[in-house]
Amino acid sequence: MLLDVFLKRYDAHQKELDTLNYNLEERVRDEVNFNKSNQKKYEQQAKMAAMGEMMDAIAHQWKQPLNAVSMMSDMLVSDFKSGDVNQIYIDNLANDTQIQIQHMISTLNEFRNFFRPKEIKENFGIKRCIQSVMLLINDEFLHNNISINIISKRELLIYGIENEFKHLILNIINNAKDAFNERDIKKRDINIKFYKKNNSINLDIQDNAGGIPNNVINDIFKPEITTKKSDEGTGIGLYMSMQIAQKLGGSLSVKNINDGACFSLKIPL
Ligand SMILES: Nc1ncnc2c1ncn2[C@@H]1O[C@H](COP(=O)(O)OP(=O)(O)OP(=O)(O)O)[C@@H](O)[C@H]1O
Ligand SMILES: [Mg+2]
Repeated sequence: MLLDVFLKRYDAHQKELDTLNYNLEERVRDEVNFNKSNQKKYEQQAKMAAMGEMMDAIAHQWKQPLNAVSMMSDMLVSDFKSGDVNQIYIDNLANDTQIQIQHMISTLNEFRNFFRPKEIKENFGIKRCIQSVMLLINDEFLHNNISINIISKRELLIYGIENEFKHLILNIINNAKDAFNERDIKKRDINIKFYKKNNSINLDIQDNAGGIPNNVINDIFKPEITTKKSDEGTGIGLYMSMQIAQKLGGSLSVKNINDGACFSLKIPL
């Protein structure tokens, strides 16, 4: 009798346990499937975000050459009216336009590389790289009365992707240009120094445009931090620059010094 009761109870318990186990398996399966589909969703979101960033980056870097080409065509019209257009003028214009267009094409290629793992790293000279950036923006900076001074004499080599480094430089000096114009500064200087110190390579870019506003200075390397109107700035420039600095094995920092901002790139050797 007792055994019978015991067995019945045991059976009942076992059944309960079986259903519980079955439910558990089902719940685990559901949970795993849910996580899998979530993971896919996150991956997809990350991909979309990276693509969005790439679009922003290209739009950002194209703004300046597009402006330059637009300015050249305005100048052509007015110079033609005043009778200044001759063969030499046209040759120069064609040449200058080609430089800007080449810059746009190389920007596209660089950024395609930037978001793809396959990249060619090499040694390149900081000074030569900055000079080639200056060549691209020379006209616009002259037009804006800004003088860029490379103070360091000796070339220094760093290892990485040269074109990305050019963009870092371009982003920082374009920001200085914007600040000069916003604040209507009269004497406009950007001083660039690079040197080896304490086992690292340092590059300082200092302007006298009044400095970074206090309310953004702690966040300017984050995406979408900007003090500009929505059609004038997306807040992506310094974020991209920090990504580039990190890919070079270093980092960027900023301080307000004297009457302007000083951006420093530091790459430990
Ligand atoms: N040299 C500088 N002087 C003063 N403020 C600066 C300087 N450089 C950056 N800033 C400030 O930092 C903010 C962020 O700069 P960032 O380059 O990331 O974005 P942005 O210039 O506003 O927009 P984008 O670069 O996408 O066109 C700027 O809006 C500006 O307020
Ligand atoms: Mg910027």
